[in-house]
Amino acid sequence: MNSGLEGVIAAETVLTHVDGARGIWWLRGHGLAEVIAEHGYEGATALLWQGFAGEGLDRARIQSAFGAGRVAAFARLPLWLDAARRLPLAEAVRLALAAVADESAPAGIAAALPVGIAALLRSRAGDPPVAPDPTLTTAADFLRMLSGDRPAPASAAALDAYLTTVIDNGLAASTFAARVIASTRASLAAAVLGGYCALTGPLHGGAPGPVLDMLDEIGDAAGIDAWLEQKLAEGERLMGFGHRVWRGRDPRADALKAALERLGPDRGRIGFAEAVERRALAALQRKKPGRPIETNVEFYTALLLEAVGLPRDAFTPVFALARSAGWLAHALEQQKTGRLIRPAAAYIGPKPQAA
Ligand code: COA
Repeated sequence: MNSGLEGVIAAETVLTHVDGARGIWWLRGHGLAEVIAEHGYEGATALLWQGFAGEGLDRARIQSAFGAGRVAAFARLPLWLDAARRLPLAEAVRLALAAVADESAPAGIAAALPVGIAALLRSRAGDPPVAPDPTLTTAADFLRMLSGDRPAPASAAALDAYLTTVIDNGLAASTFAARVIASTRASLAAAVLGGYCALTGPLHGGAPGPVLDMLDEIGDAAGIDAWLEQKLAEGERLMGFGHRVWRGRDPRADALKAALERLGPDRGRIGFAEAVERRALAALQRKKPGRPIETNVEFYTALLLEAVGLPRDAFTPVFALARSAGWLAHALEQQKTGRLIRPAAAYIGPKPQAA
């Protein structure tokens, strides 16, 4: 019995290859730096969806499909926005995804997230939703739908680098959840909603908000070591560190740090965060000698999303926005090449008397 299914191969995929020990991340044969610099979020989606959501896909075709999807999602806002606006954001986004029709095309499902999250964030500030501009990239239009103004190119580029970096990562818990749902031949919309639900836990996509809480609590450089020692002594986990697969350095953490640095003067509290990172890695090594615990992608995610102006309760929904393209690719691949996923459990409960 392997309770966390660690190392268990449960699917074959052509989508992403993750070798945590060797620091490798490939998306359909392309390395991370190339995907960020040359393909961007829409181009990465085209690579992932090629042969699954159509043939001849490229960056421009996906950008236009996402744009049309955002326009359709905006028209559907009256169906759910009123019921969702008073809920905590993570729950409200669940409602937004639940309102997506089963027969929706992949781009339409993915587009529900930027439109829904932006409308929810504006509505809690008492502002009406901003209609999408279908000619923009997802990153630029999302920031525009949030603020009402076209974003600075550097902010849109930083968010695009984030969305691209976390678009897919092998068989993550949420991706597996999406594949299990797709394996029953349920709809793609159902698979994305299930993936989202799995993502919201703090051991998966819920960590970046708590990373900022940690930086806030530590306060300044003088308080770093005492705070870390106390939390570890209390048995708490340090958010933004450790990963089931990435036992060595996660190249995505470095890619996000580089994207953050490109923001120049708007890059937020990176210096302080680097100091916390250094001290936390040393403290974890002392506490868990022999267990490689490295900085994970959520650490610099938190700083980047804060620097582009997002509130911390939006971090997990924005992660879902990015990862939805990956969930859809895996759900489509599962439908095309996989079988019903139905493992077994070892019964350890009581036997009936008669037996
Ligand atoms: N802080 C403190 N201790 C940690 C740790 C962290 N960030 N990550 C792992 N550990 C410790 C655990 O407490 C456990 O110790 P124990 O054996 O004494 O109980 C040991 O390392 C193994 O943890 P386990 O949860 O079995 O390993 P895993 O491979 O499943 O861990 C995570 C992966 C992500 C669940 C884990 O590293 C974690 O909880 N990280 C913090 C949350 C986070 O940043 N999540 C985002 C992931 S991208």
